[in-house]
Amino acid sequence: MRVVITPEEMYEASLAAARAGRRVGFVPTMGYLHQGHLSLVRAARATSDVVVMSIFVNPLQFGPNEDFARYPRDLARDQALAEQAGVDVLWTPPTEAMYPTPQAVTVDPGPVGAILEGAIRPGHFAGVLTVVLKLFAIVQPRVAVFGRKDAQQAALVRFMVRDFNLAIEIAVAPLVRDVDGLALSSRNVYLDALLRPKALALPRALARGVAAFRAGERKAGSVIAAAWSVLGEVEGVTTEYINVIDPDTFLPSHAATPRSYLAAAIRVGPTRLIDNVILGEGIEGDVRLGGLSE
Ligand code: PAF
Repeated sequence: MRVVITPEEMYEASLAAARAGRRVGFVPTMGYLHQGHLSLVRAARATSDVVVMSIFVNPLQFGPNEDFARYPRDLARDQALAEQAGVDVLWTPPTEAMYPTPQAVTVDPGPVGAILEGAIRPGHFAGVLTVVLKLFAIVQPRVAVFGRKDAQQAALVRFMVRDFNLAIEIAVAPLVRDVDGLALSSRNVYLDALLRPKALALPRALARGVAAFRAGERKAGSVIAAAWSVLGEVEGVTTEYINVIDPDTFLPSHAATPRSYLAAAIRVGPTRLIDNVILGEGIEGDVRLGGLSE
């Protein structure tokens, strides 16, 4: 595995790959890698000759009171995991290299960027799309892989690629859950032995919503109420939103369909967690560590 640091080195490496007729697949990350990230590498590997992974904790997507400073970082561990997973080029740019001057022009994520995560984290998706566009400009990938755990982010990246005519295929890889059902996230490291069982209310709530859907509920409000009732039972858990989302527009929908997402965000102690499920598939449709689908 080659490790490159500067945007210039990364650009040259991608240019050399393209000149050699090799298809570049890209996995953008903020590091502190887990099995979810490694599944994105496998997905990129399946359709590319060269797999590039970036590790960059992007300050632009964190609000002033968010966890940018304490976001977990462990580059040595990430490097070993990326190499084992088959990454060909690991790119770890310093902040000054990505933002040598204050970013004067940013990407406006539009109405979908203002709801759900965007409503709770103003400016978050402008920061995400701006850095993703910069990463794309430097890596010049043919395909980029995102995880369904951040379903709103994946939808917005798709919209950006479509609306700005970028010649990049966006693949969305399945959500990966830990053995206990919690969706994998670098932020799970914030959960101690007391908070983790409380956090499990989130996948349980989504499963309850799916159960209501399977029992015949087709009104989004009824599916949401079923999920909400689980979260309301757990002390120390605050529900930020639960919504049924249209998979094509990524806007809240009144009708629950097999392709709809049920998406939720909670706070457990000081930690925010997000999760989602596709109603027709249920959480058993997701990849589970230690399970048959791993
Ligand atoms: O999903 C993430 O890790 C980040 O939002 C991304 C896409 C790497 C942009 O910083």
